Amino acid sequence: MNDDRVIVGLDIGTTTVSAAIADYDEDGQLEIIGLGTAPSHGLRRGVVINIEATLRSVGLAVEAAEQMAGREVSTVVTGIAGGHIEGLNSRGVVAVTGRGREITSEDVDRVIDAAKAVVIPMDREVIHVVPQEFIVDEQAGIRNPLDMIGVRLEAEVHIITGSVTSAQNLVKCVNRAGFKVSDIVLESLASARAVLTEDEKELGVLLIDLGGGTTDILIFREGAPYYTSVLPVGGAQVTGDLSIMLKTPTESAEQIKHEAGCCYLPLVEAGEPVIIPGVGGRPPASVPREEICRIIQPRVGEIYSMVREKIEPKGYLRHLGAGIVLTGGGALLPGAVELAQEVFGVSARIGQPGNLGGIGTVYQTPEFSTVIGLVLYAEAKSGGRSDAVPEKDTRGRMQGGLLRGVGKWLRNFFE
Ligand SMILES: Nc1ncnc2c1ncn2[C@@H]1O[C@H](COP(=O)(O)OP(=O)(O)OP(=O)(O)O)[C@@H](O)[C@H]1O
Ligand SMILES: [Mg+2]
Repeated sequence: MNDDRVIVGLDIGTTTVSAAIADYDEDGQLEIIGLGTAPSHGLRRGVVINIEATLRSVGLAVEAAEQMAGREVSTVVTGIAGGHIEGLNSRGVVAVTGRGREITSEDVDRVIDAAKAVVIPMDREVIHVVPQEFIVDEQAGIRNPLDMIGVRLEAEVHIITGSVTSAQNLVKCVNRAGFKVSDIVLESLASARAVLTEDEKELGVLLIDLGGGTTDILIFREGAPYYTSVLPVGGAQVTGDLSIMLKTPTESAEQIKHEAGCCYLPLVEAGEPVIIPGVGGRPPASVPREEICRIIQPRVGEIYSMVREKIEPKGYLRHLGAGIVLTGGGALLPGAVELAQEVFGVSARIGQPGNLGGIGTVYQTPEFSTVIGLVLYAEAKSGGRSDAVPEKDTRGRMQGGLLRGVGKWLRNFFE
């Protein structure tokens, strides 16, 4: 059965490709009805470098989700990340021209278009234009200017751009795996939907998505995205360090990280032994857990310091009233919160998706923040129903319908 009402999130990560299928229950509530994962082999630092390998992982993940849901799906909303992602803030101004100087949705579209009219190199594409606030005449801090009376309408927006070719390769993989892409969403923006509270976004919060290949950062201030960056480092480096230092293959280093890893020394009891499997017929060895922590902590600390170096010179660290929220698979590493608090000097917590009903709580872990966030993002954008009238398409270059106008989802952001 092919059902158009379902929403499918597809997170093509560097470590894992995850797919989540959601549908509405009898009460009209969205629930997760299928979840599938497959190891990812075709990405490097968040970007597709091998189409064949990626499309296989995509096929496997979606099939697994379909099997659980008992549905076939055809269209997905997918995430994008990678070092090519950039965010910038911009402002646009227009005169309100309508009768009675009442601000209409056309005025809102025009002012956002004006704010969007920054020079963007040919090899980059606008992925999102998220309104931060509107200013009507001199009155700032307006979330929704519709129907207000004014002469001059200004918009402050956060623009996220990415490489055209990276996005095209992503779409190509999904298409060749047999699915259409209805939308591409910045992965951290999707994760934010799944894990941040409205209060946190208002107070100022730094979301750090600790993935396998990338560390995505997103700052919210006064309810809207303010700063975006993607660092091309992640959990794979931690595993790599363990593999080298413990002289063990990547797979066993990964297993040791999962079972005995920690990135904050005060949490480790002295003398706890960890068994390292022998390689090439050699016997297994025992290593104290502190030693494993002494390998992991500097690398995670370095990743945090790189984040800090990005935001501190701009003064953003002082505006994190709600501190830091850690998500992504790396957030499962014991000590991730404690080390973050030490490096940044603000409070931190782990963020994971809430209970959306359906298949139980399997998706309520930080690894699934992005894929569940993609579902929530798509739901909000469609105005609560995935089969709602599509928004008008204001975009050109990439793919018809791939990324749509802002008129409607502007409302979604502030509702
Ligand atoms: N229990 C755990 N303890 C420590 N690390 C973990 C644990 N579970 C997952 N990880 C690490 O999390 C990383 C994968 O996280 P995630 O699934 O969020 O990445 P991804 O989305 O595939 O990659 P990216 O977002 O960077 O493209 C890997 O480096 C993995 O080793
Ligand atoms: Mg990820």
